[in-house]
Amino acid sequence: MNCKLFCIFVHQIRKHTKAMIEKIQELITEVKALQAGTAEEVEALRIKYLSKKGEISMLMNDFRNVPADMKKEVGMRINELKTLAMERINNLRDAVSKAEVAGDDIDLTRTAYPIRLGSRHPLTVVRNEIVDIFSRLGFTLAEGPEVEDDWHVYSSMNFADDHPARDMQDTFFVEAHPDIILRSHTSSVQARVMEQQQPPIRVICPGRVYRNEAISARAHCFFHQVEGLYIDRNVSFADLRQVLLQFAREMFGTDTQIRLRPSYFPFTEPSAEMDVSCTICGGKGCSMCKGAGWLEILGCGMVDPAVLEANGIDSTQYTGYAFGMGIERIANLKYQVKDLRLFSENDVRFLDEFRNA
Ligand code: PHE
Repeated sequence: MNCKLFCIFVHQIRKHTKAMIEKIQELITEVKALQAGTAEEVEALRIKYLSKKGEISMLMNDFRNVPADMKKEVGMRINELKTLAMERINNLRDAVSKAEVAGDDIDLTRTAYPIRLGSRHPLTVVRNEIVDIFSRLGFTLAEGPEVEDDWHVYSSMNFADDHPARDMQDTFFVEAHPDIILRSHTSSVQARVMEQQQPPIRVICPGRVYRNEAISARAHCFFHQVEGLYIDRNVSFADLRQVLLQFAREMFGTDTQIRLRPSYFPFTEPSAEMDVSCTICGGKGCSMCKGAGWLEILGCGMVDPAVLEANGIDSTQYTGYAFGMGIERIANLKYQVKDLRLFSENDVRFLDEFRNA
């Protein structure tokens, strides 16, 4: 090769190497801006830049044509490009797989996550238990409306016109209509049964009732009751006592004792309140029964003849007894729930505790 040709050759090689450096520079800018939305796109980028026939391998192959005095610079640039490409593509791969886990990429063919089953509300559990016990004792279920008229809630139950329970403070009125109210006890259902049916009558009436009280740990503006009514010939107070003793023993255990204390209700005469021996200490006295050994659980009595007559039942032929209890109260004794509000807040952590009840 003569001198002139050699010079041209060297010139060409230098030109080629300069183009190579420009190409590397372009690729560096390109790689820094790479984007991918799916794993497939990431793989396509890997093939384009990092595979055996990819852009970087091509540059490596060309490296042997770089003149010795430029090898160092070109080598460094290729390495820089390679490191950048590997980092960028790895980062894109991580981002795509994280997004998939986070659910951005919804796969409708995947099996569903197990859905936790709910559990019965503690008040439902206790209500069912009470209803079960009385069903076995021959009582049938009766239900009625929560929005009632004054007659079924109060007048038919022998409440005098000026009885304090009718007071605005106790009763919720519907649309300021003095006759339409939210029932304050389920005795209204008993009135509806009596107007439909002649004795023998033996029913229990579970349901929600409303009283206009300030909401606190010990009172709420609604709660739940089970009331019972038995009317037939020769029904006596001894029958009442026996049925309630049976109920208490099935509900709280066979050792349970009961105690009846005189009381007053407009619709029963005589009336009583019933206590059970403390479910915690058995009667010795503890913090639950405040040292008394007894816990009050229900009101009861012989149906006042005036109530029988008001509801179309001949009080010279028939007698009857009635009783009524709050389901929250019974549930509290069973589960020691300190704050009544828990029953209506439906906090899953609270409800979960009754999963096996
Ligand atoms: N109705 C009464 C109340 O709501 C309970 C009760 C029912 C008392 C039957 C005696 C007889 O408080």
